[in-house]
This record gives sequence, structure tokens and C-alpha cells, in this order.
Amino acid sequence: MHPTLDTLDTPAAIIDVARMQHNIDRMQQRMNALGVRFRPHVKTSKCMPVVRAQLDAGAQGITVSTLLEAEHFFAEGVTDILYAVGMAAHRLPHALALRRRGCHLKILTDSVASAEAIAKFGRASGEAFEVMIEIDTDGHRSGIAPEDAVLLEVGRALHDGGMRLAGVLTHAGSSYELDTAEALAALAEQERAGCVRAAERLRAAHLPCPVVSIGSTPTALSAATLDGVTEVRAGVYVLFDLVMHNVGVCTTDDIALSVLTTVIGHQNTKGWAIVDAGWMAMSRDRGTQKQRRDYGYGQVCTMAGTVLPGYVLSGANQEHGIVSREGEPDADIAMHLPIGTRLRILPNHACATGAQFPEYRALSEDGELAAWARFHGW
Ligand SMILES: Cc1ncc(COP(=O)(O)O)c(C=O)c1O
Repeated sequence: MHPTLDTLDTPAAIIDVARMQHNIDRMQQRMNALGVRFRPHVKTSKCMPVVRAQLDAGAQGITVSTLLEAEHFFAEGVTDILYAVGMAAHRLPHALALRRRGCHLKILTDSVASAEAIAKFGRASGEAFEVMIEIDTDGHRSGIAPEDAVLLEVGRALHDGGMRLAGVLTHAGSSYELDTAEALAALAEQERAGCVRAAERLRAAHLPCPVVSIGSTPTALSAATLDGVTEVRAGVYVLFDLVMHNVGVCTTDDIALSVLTTVIGHQNTKGWAIVDAGWMAMSRDRGTQKQRRDYGYGQVCTMAGTVLPGYVLSGANQEHGIVSREGEPDADIAMHLPIGTRLRILPNHACATGAQFPEYRALSEDGELAAWARFHGW
């Protein structure tokens, strides 16, 4: 007997398959219309059935954040993999082993020191690594500014050092701080223009730069044109979450991940229902705290997935969560949400919440709950 939402042990991470598929189709159609190749970032799900659905919809290759992800997806038959975290020299033997086994692994750098280490190791082992240069287009994190002289130094260290300069890559992660269509469109254009400019500078210096790879979910969904871009990456769009809802790129009805939980007690005078999903289930991510609407640790929905307006997971201990109503406390919460009631909580950050669970439960429209394994670690 397959479990149902009524019988599954809680807490459990539920993926609404119809919503996920809708999100996949929305992004893929947008990328097709903009004429670019789409390379999803799979760190969001770390789950093969999710990635299979992305590839089936038209994605070409994947982006990963750890070499363990590369190992897992390569073992499942995915060969075109971009490892989009700056390369640390001690990981080069692992990257080499993957390439020797037939994985078309691309790696990333944003410094002369790292580029030289890659070239040195590559030459010593007879491997021309495919290397992307990370570009900083919004001051958010790592990367080289498009106009920085270091860009050409890194390009030369790789190219003259015998490596294959595969292209430039940027991720405008500051898009998470925005919440208007105008600001998102402006940042998407800044991301595009900065990365294209970096590619032009490399080419003008007679260095190869075939790939121009950009992307975050908010900018991918806000770009008006992608002239000069060859590839877009996005990750969290596949499940969406409350942070993305606050940014303005999805509705709560698009959020495909929720945590199934059971009411296990009440504090009537406080208007609290206690549930068995604390931060071990939701994660400690409070990404909505600084946004236009703070959802605490998550938005409360009925077991069927309908949002209960005003009810949030306002507190989280390790295994206990506190459900309460915003504004005036619900004095009758024990009547409205009696012991044993099952609820679903929409997460602030889908990647962080998913990472709390060893598997997802994939909810299909007929109510079936298939087990979808996800993996952990580095
Ligand atoms: C290098 C890189 N590319 C793409 C992404 C995908 O961003 P998002 O999850 O906003 O789509 C990330 C996410 O952090 C990233 O680090």
C-alpha cells in the first residue's frame, strides 16, 4: 500500500508534481522564446526525477554546486555538467577523474592564482580542462568585474597554459533583494550586458570565449532580451518558494514544495498550535525576514494545499513548530486546527528545506505519493 497524505509519517517533504511541471515548462518555454540554451542548476533538488523532468522538457546539460552532485548525475547518465563554484586546487584530481570517465565537466575560476593552478595540474596530467571565468555583474559575491584588467590575465593564464577557455559565467544573486518588475528587468539587463562585455574583451584580446552563461531565477524570468548570451542557468524556479513569491516572480500557487506536518498540541491562551515540523524540517532559513512580507518559518496551508491566509509557522524549535495567526491571535485555534490535523507548510527557501530530508514524496494528481531520493553531502 502506497502512503497517502493522510497516512504518510510526518514531517515529510512533498513535491506537487503538476506544479513542478508547470514551473519547468514556464522556464523552458521562456528560454526557447529568447533563443538560448537552458542549463538548470540542480542544487535546488539534488534529485534525479526532478532533473529528468527538466531535461525531458528541453534543458541541455546541468549546473552543479558540488562534485558529489556531478558524480551522482553522471552516474545517472548526464554527461554535460558545469561545476559553478570556484575551483579549489585540492578538487582537481576529482575533476580529472570525472573527465577521464567521460564526463564533460566544466570548471570555474576567478583568479590568476587559481587559473595557474588549474593549468599546472592540467598540463602535468595531460588534461586540457574546460574552464569558465566567473564575472561579477552586481557586486553580490565572487567574480571579476567586466572591465577589470585581471580578466585578461586569467584568460591568458588558462589559454596560454594549455587549457580550454570555455567562456564567461555570471550569477546576479542580488536579484533576491528586489521586488519590482522594473528593478528586476534593469538587473537582468545589467547581468546580460556585463557578461557580454566580458566576453567581448576576451575576444578582442584574441582569447576564445564561446559560452556566455548568465542567470538566477528572478533575472531569468525578467530579461527582455538576451543578445550575446548563449546559455541561462536557474535553479529554484523548479520548486519556487516564499522568497521568490516576495520577489514577485511566482504566486503561492506555483510553490511546488511543502512540508507535511501534524498538529500535536496547543497553547490556547497564546493562540498557538504546535506541529511536528520545527527547523529540522523547515531549515533555519529566514529569507523572508527582510522582504516585503515576513512569513516566519513558512506559510500554513491545508493538507490539500490551500493557503490558510494569515496563519504562519511563527516559531521553530528543533522538532516543534508553532503555528499562529498574524495580528490577532486565534483564541479558538484548538477548534480550528484540532490535534491530529495535517497541514502543509510552504518554505521560505526550497533549496534549504529540501536539504533537511533524505527523500521527497512526489504527489501526483491522483494522490499517489512516490518516493524520490535526494542526496546529501559534498
Ligand atoms: C552560479 C549559480 N548559478 C545559478 C544559480 C541559480 O540561481 P537561482 O536558484 O536563483 O535560480 C545559482 C544559485 O545560487 C548559482 O550559484
